[in-house]
Amino acid sequence: MDPRINPYAPGAGTKPPALVGRDAQIESFDVLLERLENGYSEQSMIITGLRGVGKTVLLDVFREKAEERDWATVEWEVEKNSLFGSKISSQVRRALLQIAPKARWTDRARRAASILKSFTVTFNPDGAVTAGLDVEALAGVGDSGAIAEDLTDLFVALGEAAQESGTGVVFLLDEIQYLSATELEALIAALHKCTRRSLPITLVGAGLPQIPRLAGEAKSYSERLFQFPRIGELDPDTDARDALVLPVRNLGFDYESGAIDFVVEYTQGYPYFLQEYGKFLWDEASDSPISRAEAEFVLPFVEAKLDESFFRVRVDRATELELKYLYAMAELGPEPHRASEVANRIQRTTEQAGPIRSRLIGKGLLYTPGHGYAAFTVPQFDRYMLRKHAALGDL
Ligand SMILES: Nc1ncnc2c1ncn2[C@@H]1O[C@H](COP(=O)(O)OP(=O)(O)O)[C@@H](O)[C@H]1O
Ligand SMILES: [Mg+2]
Repeated sequence: MDPRINPYAPGAGTKPPALVGRDAQIESFDVLLERLENGYSEQSMIITGLRGVGKTVLLDVFREKAEERDWATVEWEVEKNSLFGSKISSQVRRALLQIAPKARWTDRARRAASILKSFTVTFNPDGAVTAGLDVEALAGVGDSGAIAEDLTDLFVALGEAAQESGTGVVFLLDEIQYLSATELEALIAALHKCTRRSLPITLVGAGLPQIPRLAGEAKSYSERLFQFPRIGELDPDTDARDALVLPVRNLGFDYESGAIDFVVEYTQGYPYFLQEYGKFLWDEASDSPISRAEAEFVLPFVEAKLDESFFRVRVDRATELELKYLYAMAELGPEPHRASEVANRIQRTTEQAGPIRSRLIGKGLLYTPGHGYAAFTVPQFDRYMLRKHAALGDL
């Protein structure tokens, strides 16, 4: 059918034509903002899930919701080894300028700007970020050099400025698993203080599923500070079908039910796979309703596309030995596996295989769902390894 009106949206963070199955999380976010607006404290949220399940898309929905309520929003995709201090400085600056333009700053906003200056001088000495703020650093606040303390001073000042202007600030952090333990701990400590003061400042994050554990290790009270909703595949009987069918029905076309069954079964309801499948199928289908035979026909093309676009980029940076480790895990199946069991399969002791496993975690290919276990961060990764790297089984 006409590719010019193909409704599907495969990609990273691309808004789906029908966002389904996330009502609970969106509702929680609304509740969070409304409670903070009314001076109640509320647990913030860190969305966790595998790659391609819709975390980034959900953060974007949260941003829109917050903007509708006139909150200041700052988005930040964390990168490995990024410069935390300078990133925080520039984000707080943006938030401050969103709360009110400089010409209309209240005393509290000016105070927050001064603390931002101290913070910036301390953690980002080249200081480009505060250029134009035109304030003096406030000595003794936000400049101790201890990141958790200084960030707390900064967030509290920002929260007070927002409160005085009748608004709030939400930080939206994607790929939050790339923060170091110290950085995560500093953020948790700063937010904790703001929560205790019922200030309208909050952080919503998204990241791979090891995050609740990392946060727990960083600060034991993080479980009370955050909820960690996990999102994943869409329900195959309802939401996954809607994600596939609604975009087409909205344009006046339809699917045969056998075609829907086939696609939902292959994709297991994973959002990214559904988008990719739908896109191919639309382009290939000759007419409405799209048939099961057409769905079966495009499968090899969809698979080839997924291999190229989604799976291969993840293994490109893996060494031969790391690939062998991944292959051994794939042979054991899609669920989490014990480190000792995988090591055994590649004829190594757990200690010998430890560094391989750590590197794979560092590269974002594996995560640890519980002590001694590892699992793939990418859905259906086991299937990919088995079909693309079969030769590794003979090594
Ligand atoms: N609730 C949903 N329903 C249908 N498709 C979705 C949904 N959430 C995300 N998608 C699609 O899935 C793909 C991956 O989304 P993304 O937010 O990048 O995932 P993640 O950040 O978890 O890796 C995108 O193509 C997006 O359009
Ligand atoms: Mg993402």
